[in-house]
Amino acid sequence: AKRYTITLLPGDGIGPEVISVAKTALELAGSFEGIGFGFTEMPVGGAALDLTGVPLPEETLSVCKQSDAVLLAAIGGYKWDKNEKHLKPETGLLQLREGLKVFANLRPASVLPQLVDASTLKKEVAEGVDLMVVRELTGGIYFGKPRGFGTNENGEEIGFNTEVYATYEIDRIARIAFETARKRRGKLCSVDKANVLEASMLWRKRIEAIALEYPDIELSHMYVDNAAMQLVRNPKQFDTIVTNNIFGDILSDEASMITGSIGMLASASLGESGPGLFEPIHGSAPDIAGQDKANPLATVLSAAMLLKYGLGEVKAAQRIETAVLDTLNKGFRTGDIFSDGNKLVGCKQMGEEVLKSLDCKVPAA
Ligand code: NAD
Ligand code: IPM
Ligand code: MN
Repeated sequence: AKRYTITLLPGDGIGPEVISVAKTALELAGSFEGIGFGFTEMPVGGAALDLTGVPLPEETLSVCKQSDAVLLAAIGGYKWDKNEKHLKPETGLLQLREGLKVFANLRPASVLPQLVDASTLKKEVAEGVDLMVVRELTGGIYFGKPRGFGTNENGEEIGFNTEVYATYEIDRIARIAFETARKRRGKLCSVDKANVLEASMLWRKRIEAIALEYPDIELSHMYVDNAAMQLVRNPKQFDTIVTNNIFGDILSDEASMITGSIGMLASASLGESGPGLFEPIHGSAPDIAGQDKANPLATVLSAAMLLKYGLGEVKAAQRIETAVLDTLNKGFRTGDIFSDGNKLVGCKQMGEEVLKSLDCKVPAA
């Protein structure tokens, strides 16, 4: 039997609750396909700060690097919000993405027929939405230098950051985006702020250069402010979106709500080689942590992306996706996706229902 090593990073807040559901789903789905897993759980974020004094211990990164794939739940919380920059849980996550060199973050957002009522948009606007945000993840303003705190000419305190992209960073994310669009409906929309920002001007120039390699893809450009508006006006116009680190962060949260809840959206972060990092797009949800209210499906679906994109185990991935749909078909809903006529369940029970569905659902080959 095949055996893979997976690093589990539960992190903070609802992290431990949702990752334990995803872990059991992986184990069961794998067992049906003759796949075994060796899991190693490591601390990251606030949990690591409390334990070791840093948000990404060296050992956590090295265990991640040695594994076949990494599944992360979420990091962050009130307790560490006022920490200095290098001692923030979020810094640990950024160091992890940088350390694993996972520059391409795929964030699919599709409106499932079962969840149309959970969308805050009108049924006719939300129905059938199926888009993919390709977010650049290891560059831009998150990592650009110079950055820091200082004083201006009036002696006033300032904080500053730099949005910077080099050609190679744009080219490689562009190729991932064009390839992604090719496997989807062949449409790519590049989102930037090229009317104002030099980094975006270069972005647009390089996207157009790489487009020459993909004559079959229908490319368009959109300014980010318009894109934010178009996403709620007519989200069905989008197939694949490619954008920088910060715009991708914001637009994917916006896209999540079209689908009903941020508690549903998974992501895959991939590099040129080495293990991928798989994580829900939501955070640690400190407002509901420890209350068994979290929706574990974003993390469960991230585990499915891990199987598909990280290990190439497409059948096991489909098994998990099918089980999630089956669970929704049966009417089970956590609070964030609840609507009238459904069964309100907590995180744990949602997980148990997914396991039951995994048991009986065999997707067609
Ligand atoms: P958040 O995504 O944690 O929560 C936003 C809202 O969505 C909250 O009301 C929360 O209850 C709800 N929510 C999120 N996930 C849910 C789920 N699975 N089921 C049901 N409801 C869910 O964003 P925030 O409140 O802005 O940030 C909280 C902390 O998480 C901060 O410390 C932030 O830095 C961190 N964060 C981490 C990640 C990550 O680990 N990748 C992502 C975003 C935010
Ligand atoms: C996300 C989060 C992170 C980001 C934070 C917690 C660093 O919002 O994964 O979307 O901004 O990338
Ligand atoms: Mn985010």
